[in-house]
Amino acid sequence: MLNLHFNPFPELRTRRLLLRQVLPTDVEAVMKIRGNEEAMRYIPRPRAKTTEDALAVVKMLTDGIKEGKSINWAVSNIHNPSEIYGIMGYVNFYPELNKAEIGYMLHPDYWGKAYVPEAIVEVEKFGFEQINLQSIEAKIDPRNGNSRKILLRNNYQFNKLVEKEMTFQDEELDSEYYIKHKSLGI
Ligand SMILES: CC(C)(COP(=O)(O)OP(=O)(O)OC[C@H]1O[C@@H](n2cnc3c(N)ncnc32)[C@H](O)[C@@H]1OP(=O)(O)O)[C@@H](O)C(=O)NCCC(=O)NCCS
Repeated sequence: MLNLHFNPFPELRTRRLLLRQVLPTDVEAVMKIRGNEEAMRYIPRPRAKTTEDALAVVKMLTDGIKEGKSINWAVSNIHNPSEIYGIMGYVNFYPELNKAEIGYMLHPDYWGKAYVPEAIVEVEKFGFEQINLQSIEAKIDPRNGNSRKILLRNNYQFNKLVEKEMTFQDEELDSEYYIKHKSLGI
């Protein structure tokens, strides 16, 4: 059975990063990330355009944690946690399958520094050991080569391609699914 109680909020640490809860005081950083066209290119969600939009994102993340429906961390500078590089976590749980969907995004200013590869190790460890996941799924737009690299380098296996899985802003989108099982090690 999955453990979806996240109170107190589980902070995670890596060499360079503090993964902590996203708070309403982070609204400006959330606006920068969720409002960035390049960062949002392959994320089929409306881009934040106003402070209210960003606050709504913070609320959605907070509610998800409270309700045990998702858990997302602010990927922040361990020496200055008010500096947020991005957001990552489990965006969906499938309790009947002991599975979760992982998601991650950084502001482009912080791409190419291997922050997500560093953070994903602790996020997976938390998922397998504390939440009790048996598998972690990732879903990407097939055009998102940077994201595919992260998954393949972290031993996710290609599972399936679903063509025209959804329509977003008048565009039909394909999805590639990747999977990592607990039994394969972390
Ligand atoms: C995918 C993403 C999380 C990668 O995280 P990251 O911490 O930058 O990962 P890495 O540092 O390992 O870089 C991965 C690849 O990104 C590419 N990259 C790095 N800096 C880049 C830049 N400034 N512009 C374009 N691509 C860049 C490189 O090709 C790199 O591969 P390499 O190691 O072979 O050079 C990040 O690109 C991102 O947030 N993208 C937007 C959101 C998104 O699409 N999320 C995934 C949804 S499924």
